[in-house]
Amino acid sequence: MRIYDVILKKRDGYPNTKEEIKALIDGYVKGEVPDYQVSAWLMAIFFNHMTDEERSNLTEVILNSGERIDLSSIKGIKVDKHSTGGVGDKVTLVLGPIVASLGLTFAKLSGRGLGHTGGTVDKLESIPGFRTTLEKDEFFSIVNDIGIAVAGQTANIAPADKKLYALRDVTATVDEISLIASSIMGKKLAVDSDVIVLDVKTGSGAFMKKLEDAKALAIAMLDIGKRHGRKMSAVVSDMNQPLGNMVGNALEVKEAIETLKGKGPDDLFELTVAIAERMVILSEIGKPEKAREMIHDTIKSGKALKKLKALVEAQGGNPEVVDDPERILPSARYKFEVKSPYEGFVESIDAQEIGISAMILGAGREKKEDGIDPAVGVEVLKKVGDRVQRGEPLAVIYANDINKYETAERRLLGAYRFSKTAVQKLKLIHEIF
Ligand code: URA
Repeated sequence: MRIYDVILKKRDGYPNTKEEIKALIDGYVKGEVPDYQVSAWLMAIFFNHMTDEERSNLTEVILNSGERIDLSSIKGIKVDKHSTGGVGDKVTLVLGPIVASLGLTFAKLSGRGLGHTGGTVDKLESIPGFRTTLEKDEFFSIVNDIGIAVAGQTANIAPADKKLYALRDVTATVDEISLIASSIMGKKLAVDSDVIVLDVKTGSGAFMKKLEDAKALAIAMLDIGKRHGRKMSAVVSDMNQPLGNMVGNALEVKEAIETLKGKGPDDLFELTVAIAERMVILSEIGKPEKAREMIHDTIKSGKALKKLKALVEAQGGNPEVVDDPERILPSARYKFEVKSPYEGFVESIDAQEIGISAMILGAGREKKEDGIDPAVGVEVLKKVGDRVQRGEPLAVIYANDINKYETAERRLLGAYRFSKTAVQKLKLIHEIF
């Protein structure tokens, strides 16, 4: 097969076969197909798109380029989630203990944060002693014991995606739905869970800025997952402002604990319950109409919180964090209020800018190699639709380095827009598929 013909077919609007896609991608990974041919093929996809079948085949080739995590020796129904990334997104920390306390199995591989978005691994590591690097045997044994474990990705998952993504990044071919969907699902399907619920975010702090694009991405990923035999659902949720109030690692752990105690912010609670409900329904562990009640009960009874404590203990963290997060978690030296320069209503918040403020303070990384400071971050006190007086605090900055404070404050203030007239609160859940 000539790679030239594979590109020509795509350029002229015809679908590529599985064999053609495999020849191109496998050849690329081995270094036999050059960058310039793959770039031309990617650009042809950018303009001509892919059929559902092509997209599923591309995902399979990406998936099979690396290691797969076989969970068959783990008991129970394995549920997994994936978020396309946001600011203040600590859903996994609340969701995992909830679904595990209901008897589902939550064997989760999570990532670190990059740029304006955070990562679950960094958040968990802010708990003193918590280990996210686990040997396979230990990971499996914790999941079999308590129904939940969360570890960083050490396996060589989907190396084809790493190479393709780097090329897409420099050839202006990142934002094509089939390429994004196969990139995400090629990694997600490497863990053989039974149920996957996707949280596809849309808005100023999300990868997908427009709602129609987020919906199209959700539909594409659902189709791929179903074609690969998984039970799938997707929640399209708003990221036009941070989720909850806390942005920063230890701050987010504290907020997740509060939420499991029934004292967290409404939006974080609502989204977590929506995702948990989809997991309960797809797993068929209860009647669909009873799913919400089961979730509320496991929180009210304290079972979900106990599950978080068991997780922290099993992975070497100090379990007292659950009872007294303020005492156990690292805290920042300085705490500054950011005062509102206006009187009126919060019209919009650029969530990405809030994420960047937290990153500047040290809560996130600009480059993969950067370290992070677990204690620092931002607490958002005023959200869209809230009334605010001049001089009233909009947010609190938690800093360890006084020199970073001014830049973070400037960006935070720049993220807010105000209106003299009342503004509607934002809808959190746009669609559930
Ligand atoms: N995230 C991914 O993993 N891949 C993409 O293509 C875009 C976002």
